[in-house]
Amino acid sequence: MPSSKIAGIGFYVPEKVVTNNDLTKVMDTSDEWIQERTGIKERRYAVKHKESSTTMGTAAARIAIERAGITPEDVDFIIFATLSPDYYFPGCGVLMQRELGIPGIGALDIRNQCSGFVYGLSIADQFVKSGMYKNILLVGAEFHSAGLDFSTRGRNVTVIFGDGAGAVVIQPTEEEGKGILSTHLHADGSYAEKLAYINPGCHGGVHLGTEKYDYPDQEYGGAFLTEKMYKDEDLFPNMEGQAVFKMAVQKFPEVIMEALAQNNYEATDIDMLVPHQANLRISQFVQKRLGLRDDQVWNNIQKYGNTTAASIPIALCEAWEAGKVKEGDLVCLAAFGSGFTWGSALIRF
Ligand code: COA
Repeated sequence: MPSSKIAGIGFYVPEKVVTNNDLTKVMDTSDEWIQERTGIKERRYAVKHKESSTTMGTAAARIAIERAGITPEDVDFIIFATLSPDYYFPGCGVLMQRELGIPGIGALDIRNQCSGFVYGLSIADQFVKSGMYKNILLVGAEFHSAGLDFSTRGRNVTVIFGDGAGAVVIQPTEEEGKGILSTHLHADGSYAEKLAYINPGCHGGVHLGTEKYDYPDQEYGGAFLTEKMYKDEDLFPNMEGQAVFKMAVQKFPEVIMEALAQNNYEATDIDMLVPHQANLRISQFVQKRLGLRDDQVWNNIQKYGNTTAASIPIALCEAWEAGKVKEGDLVCLAAFGSGFTWGSALIRF
């Protein structure tokens, strides 16, 4: 049975840089607060009406495809991870397929938020190992700035997130001990609302009680989008930051150790850890817990903020372009996010 490997990688971030000071013009926050709590200095925002998760994903995909030495026509399956899709449905997978001009192949959308890329990688790995596909295009892309609350009320969430996309091409390899060694996926839905974008949705108050979600103005259909939601300004993501932080610093080390143990490695064997860029403080905590040096962990949240499904492929691509991820290196990817979901992948490059 072949293993699967990352044969090509690319990323795209929009040109528009938004600094912490730019955000102070629209909400009550400060550069000092944001840097101290999250490490973020600036992020990128996509250009409305010109860019979207699909267009950014496609730009990253074209680079990954070229670096894999293939053409779009060689791609035999698409996996697209995003929480900020262009449409409610259909997903970005088919939209990107149209942009790339490769109709006919399967296109799957993944809804696992910050863990979306690792979940997608695991799926791609299984498909390639089983011999079903030979050139899977896996993309993580986010257009967060389209859906954030830019008033002071939304500041705890809004300052953290940025836009961008990353992509990889996954191919089989017969090289012994090379490629994706293992992937590990987890979730605990009891925390679903701790980091969530609830409305508009079809829940109709079934999870949280009808008091908050009773929309008498519409008997049916109102659960999707109602005037009351607009009036209550109940159409934004929300996050219990401290609950997220607490679980993240527990689950990141746990799932990294799980991957290492399965492959008989120690934390110090890792050449590069690429954690999901949730918060610099979380990454630093994980680094310390695992006893890793600064040069064993790639952080770029300072420049891009948290780009959710895009953050790992963007960071991995940057590390690879900088020559910090080389042939033969042991690379660990790890993610944690909304769901809660978390996961890891251990790769011998
Ligand atoms: N600017 C200024 N003040 C802010 C702010 C902002 N952007 N966001 C929140 N505050 C304020 C709060 O209103 C609160 O004020 P109060 O004490 O007057 O009530 C104060 O700062 C502390 O808020 P709190 O939410 O307790 O802050 P915190 O220390 O937990 O830091 C996070 C907030 C979001 C930075 C932190 O909880 C965190 O990093 N959590 C993990 C988030 C994450 O990684 N999410 C992505 C997961 S994939």
